[in-house]
Amino acid sequence: MNAVAFEPWLVCGSGHPGRDVGFLEQMRFLVGYAILAPSPHNAQPWYFRALKERIGVHIDRTRVLKFCDPHDREATIGCGCAIFNLCLAIRHFGNAAVGELLPDAAQPDLLAAIGIGDRRNADHECNSLFEAIPKRRTNRLKFETRAPDAAFLEKLEQIARADGAWLHVVRGRQMRHALAELIAEGDRFQWHDVRFRRELAGWVHSNRSDSHDGMPGYAFGHGDVQSLLDPFVIRTFDLAERVATRDLDAAEHSPALLVLGTAEDSPRSWLHAGRALQHILLQAAAGGLSCSYFNQPLQVDALRPKVTAVIGRTGHAQVIMRMGFGGEVRPTPRRSVSEVIRP
Ligand SMILES: Cc1cc2nc3c(=O)[nH]c(=O)nc-3n(C[C@H](O)[C@H](O)[C@H](O)COP(=O)(O)O)c2cc1C
Repeated sequence: MNAVAFEPWLVCGSGHPGRDVGFLEQMRFLVGYAILAPSPHNAQPWYFRALKERIGVHIDRTRVLKFCDPHDREATIGCGCAIFNLCLAIRHFGNAAVGELLPDAAQPDLLAAIGIGDRRNADHECNSLFEAIPKRRTNRLKFETRAPDAAFLEKLEQIARADGAWLHVVRGRQMRHALAELIAEGDRFQWHDVRFRRELAGWVHSNRSDSHDGMPGYAFGHGDVQSLLDPFVIRTFDLAERVATRDLDAAEHSPALLVLGTAEDSPRSWLHAGRALQHILLQAAAGGLSCSYFNQPLQVDALRPKVTAVIGRTGHAQVIMRMGFGGEVRPTPRRSVSEVIRP
């Protein structure tokens, strides 16, 4: 295993470079927090560029999953998560975060231009979310049966609303079962298709890989030997029934099952969904809670509208996740700041 790929997670131990250093130095420091965001298959579909005194956050379309994310929707959500971290770091270090989403219609890859505003003291909430940045992980392993507090889930619903999205807490056995069935249907649709398996296999690595992106086998609870075989097994075998049965059970028994959505379905709303998602994930991490995803039916165009139908919401579902109390999991690799900043 290459320790360099995990160094980005140590960023929170390093001190702020100070206010006297130039903008580029400050940008390098702040981007160190943005890159800890989650992204589909850990493809990290972003790059950053200085735009006068702003940090330009760009989508890297060469890193979008062609099969699972044909409209670049999930990659844009991942970039929204990175933008949330960036703004949070600016605020934590004592400034307002200023700027706009999609600032230039002629440059659709430029998703945000974020600047360092006036001095402003960070409040307790900001600092606690900031401290959760390096603790957050996707946890696909078993959760305890106890559910998150109802008041905490209500707070998450409010957070989503304030961030321009909605969060639906799936309640009742019937609705849970209907959503779990859709998740299993998404699994079957994807695993039957060799293009899905090839794409996934390309991002799943052995536990000892030197890669700075993708998902090591341990992220799925696999040991070193199994992780060596994972890419071959995924590419070669149609595991649809096994995966669908596992996910149906996991979704039905999730301590909390949540759907994040938006009223519109545009790049701007995907960015709103991404900011809301990261806000929720950091609140969860700060409260000792873990999350993982069941986005399969949202990655299949024919199934996606059925998700809002079963939960009785209007608008567009963006992310399906479970939340609960899980054990420790290891971080996944990241590309370094130098690899994601372009001149
Ligand atoms: C928009 C989005 C969609 C995702 N969809 C899935 C998914 O369907 N299944 C899954 O297991 N993980 C999913 N993930 C989690 C990523 O695989 C994970 O963030 C990445 O591997 C990095 O690991 P980390 O979150 O532990 O840092 C998704 C993440 C994002 C941001």
